[in-house]
Amino acid sequence: MNIEYLQKLWDSFSHKYTAAQKNPSVFCFTLLNMLRIEDSDSIIDAGCGGGHLHQYIIEKKKPYARFVAFDFSNQMVKITAARMYKYLTQQQKGSIDQITQEEIDNVNLNSEIFNQINYSIQQANIQELNQFQDNTFDTYISNLVFHLIPNPQQAMAEAYRILKPGGRLGITVWGSKNNSKALTIYQEALIKSGILEQPQGPSKFLESTQPIIEMAQLQGFTNIYCWTQQNPFDNYNLEDVGKFSNPEVLELLKNAPQEKVQQFENIVQEILNQEKQKYQPLLLECILLVATKAQ
Ligand SMILES: C[S@@+](CC[C@H](N)C(=O)[O-])C[C@H]1O[C@@H](n2cnc3c(N)ncnc32)[C@H](O)[C@@H]1O
Repeated sequence: MNIEYLQKLWDSFSHKYTAAQKNPSVFCFTLLNMLRIEDSDSIIDAGCGGGHLHQYIIEKKKPYARFVAFDFSNQMVKITAARMYKYLTQQQKGSIDQITQEEIDNVNLNSEIFNQINYSIQQANIQELNQFQDNTFDTYISNLVFHLIPNPQQAMAEAYRILKPGGRLGITVWGSKNNSKALTIYQEALIKSGILEQPQGPSKFLESTQPIIEMAQLQGFTNIYCWTQQNPFDNYNLEDVGKFSNPEVLELLKNAPQEKVQQFENIVQEILNQEKQKYQPLLLECILLVATKAQ
């Protein structure tokens, strides 16, 4: 898959993703704690999506600390900027997720209000960060991006390059497929109902922490800590599950025969019921890694 195709995919998924993003941001929250962002003088958020925790980082960081965020989806960049503009300008801060398309379209990425707090948001590709010089940042965060990109080792190399010696990296990727029903339920039901063929190629789920530890070691990172963490999703029924499905899946359903769609919906319901009987919400498992660039 080429980068332009992936960019378009994320552009079209941006609204849905930011609406449903509260669950995956919990992993990002863990990274922020583990990396002690309050002590950092310069932070970069790589593949920031809708910037769901940026307001938290802004409140927590030192006032002069530089905070840079980027995503390769232009829509994600604009949504993040519009959310943060609203957060920084409105008195009642409760509703920054309720931004209009007009607010998104008209947002100024170079707004003075961003400069005042040393915050910036831009478009960039995590694998080629030529716009940032070597040894620039104390903290590099990337939540749920490395498993989605064609060359994660190259992204890791770029992270290493732009971190200062002693700077800290924090990344998360999907963990075990069996513990991630929140993300697999649709695909499982699509395959069982005959709407989708069994996917070819390697899985994006990592069944062990070893490959990501090795990737960090290969790059020269030290003080590596790597662990799994599960997070519940508030997907209680078919409609909730649909809210998080990507545009490709919706397209498949739109074009499928009605009886297959019915079969698909029954299977989703069946899986939801099975999990409910175990008193278990749908989960997503992630592997988290924090590490330090050698001094
Ligand atoms: C699962 S979302 C995670 C977003 C955010 N970090 C969060 O915690 O919610 C993945 C994000 O990575 C972005 N992305 C994917 N490939 C990228 C690349 N090569 N460079 C930069 N961003 C990328 C997507 O546009 C999307 O916003």
